[in-house]
Amino acid sequence: MRDFSSKAAVITGGASGIGLAFAERFGRAGCRILIADIEGQAIESAVSHLTGQGIEAHGHQVDVADFSAVEGLAAAAADKLGNVHLLFNNAGVSITGPTWLMAEDDWRWVWDVNVWGVVNGIRAFLPAMLAHGEGGHVINTGSLASFNGNGDHAPYCSSKAAVLGLSQSLYSEMKAMITGIGVSIVCPGMVATRIHQSWRNRPDDDRPWSDREFANKAFLAGSEEFQGRGMAPEQIAQSTFEAVQEDRFYVFSGANWRAFMEGTVARAVRGENPFVLTWGEDRRPESERGRRPWASANDLV
Ligand SMILES: NC(=O)c1ccc[n+]([C@@H]2O[C@H](COP(=O)([O-])OP(=O)(O)OC[C@H]3O[C@@H](n4cnc5c(N)ncnc54)[C@H](O)[C@@H]3O)[C@@H](O)[C@H]2O)c1
Repeated sequence: MRDFSSKAAVITGGASGIGLAFAERFGRAGCRILIADIEGQAIESAVSHLTGQGIEAHGHQVDVADFSAVEGLAAAAADKLGNVHLLFNNAGVSITGPTWLMAEDDWRWVWDVNVWGVVNGIRAFLPAMLAHGEGGHVINTGSLASFNGNGDHAPYCSSKAAVLGLSQSLYSEMKAMITGIGVSIVCPGMVATRIHQSWRNRPDDDRPWSDREFANKAFLAGSEEFQGRGMAPEQIAQSTFEAVQEDRFYVFSGANWRAFMEGTVARAVRGENPFVLTWGEDRRPESERGRRPWASANDLV
């Protein structure tokens, strides 16, 4: 897609972080934006922030895990923007903890938002995008974690692997049918956003495995500091903008993603075991931890 002027873009999880950076970047190129998010207050701030930059912006509160609510979003988008050209299935949440201790609600919450949120967006929007015939692009937010399951991150990494698979399927369908609809998957490493505070949007009646994510002050301070070392959201938004312009499927950004892929995908091709990367307990000697192609997880920016 080369001409963004007056194109309509719906961005889930658009009220903060990477989604808000998408809104700014594509809005600056001339897109009209609908911010779709679960956080009402954050939607209002995002819309006034964008409007203040001269970008046409609207807001709609939605839980992407709820298909009927996403159908409501599609109706609101048609009402506010007319035909939709760019669909960003970006809303996502994360939780950390040992795979065998995670509660069923942990798994369901992360998969409901990260996987079903994407499926719901595609089912609610794509029929109309295909029908209007003006072309467009679907941008799903994956992660470097789409390519490798990290310790202490099983619900998240497995959900992002699912996003990779479904995005590749959709890409093949859109190309084979000559639809004029492009598909991209955005695969950032660490980005300085509020993803480490995903617990702020958990369903009230959830029963999580531990309260450390939202009540343990030492853990919270550590994750705040860690996440803050990530790349600026604007950087991945710019890479995404260029990829959509050039109709590229994979969107990577930052200095170390090649080394990461070399350490994951290329190892599998060579028949080697996965490297060990965990946010949890690691009793291995320092010498073994240093064998990764990059220095530490913090370098994935
Ligand atoms: N930050 C990173 O390091 C990183 C790395 C790779 C991929 N990602 C992915 O980027 C995407 C955006 O995350 P971010 O880092 O900007 O975090 P963020 O927490 O700043 O933004 C996520 C947004 O999604 C919204 N959201 C959460 N649950 C929702 C729901 N059920 N329905 C609708 N909206 C909901 C939040 O309110 C928030 O505005 C996610 O898919 C995330 O997995 C982030």
